[in-house]
Amino acid sequence: MSEKERLTRRDFMSIAMWAIGGVIGAAFGIPAVAYIIGPAARKQEDQGWIRLGAASKVELGSPTLFKSKIEKQTGWITNEEELSVYVLTENGRNFTAMSNICTHLGCRVRWIADQEQFFCPCHNAAFAKNGDVVSGPPPRPLDQYQVKEEDGQLFVLGG
Ligand code: FES
Repeated sequence: MSEKERLTRRDFMSIAMWAIGGVIGAAFGIPAVAYIIGPAARKQEDQGWIRLGAASKVELGSPTLFKSKIEKQTGWITNEEELSVYVLTENGRNFTAMSNICTHLGCRVRWIADQEQFFCPCHNAAFAKNGDVVSGPPPRPLDQYQVKEEDGQLFVLGG
C-alpha cells in the first residue's frame, strides 16, 4: 500500500467521524434550540383578537364592563389573566373599548352611572365617559383598544 493510499483512508475515516458527529449534534441540537426559542416564537402567534361577548349587551350611551380570561405566556410560564374592558357606543354600530386601568398608577376605575363618570378611588380621579381626564392626577385619558364586531360579538385586539 502506498503512502498516498494510506492518507486517503485516513482522510475517509476523518470525514466519516465528522459526519457521524454532525448527525449526533443535529439530533440533540435542533430539539434543544426549538425548546429554547419556542415560547418566544409562540408569543408572537398568540397576539390577536380577544372575544368580549355579545355587542347587544352594551347599553346605548353608557359604558358597559366586559370581562374576559386570557392566557399570557412569559417564557415557559403560562398565566391566566382577567381582561376588563369598558365598551361604549352611542349608536349601536360604532364602539369604543377602554381599559379599566387608571393611567395614573394603575388602580381600577369604576363607572358611576349617577355621575356619568369613571371614578378612580386611589387618588380621587375622574374620567369622562369617553375616557378623557376630568379631574385628578392621571396624565392621559384611559387607554383604548382596537375593537371590532363580528356576527354580533365584540372583539378587542390584545396581546
Ligand atoms: S391611580 Fe388612579 S388617580 Fe392615582
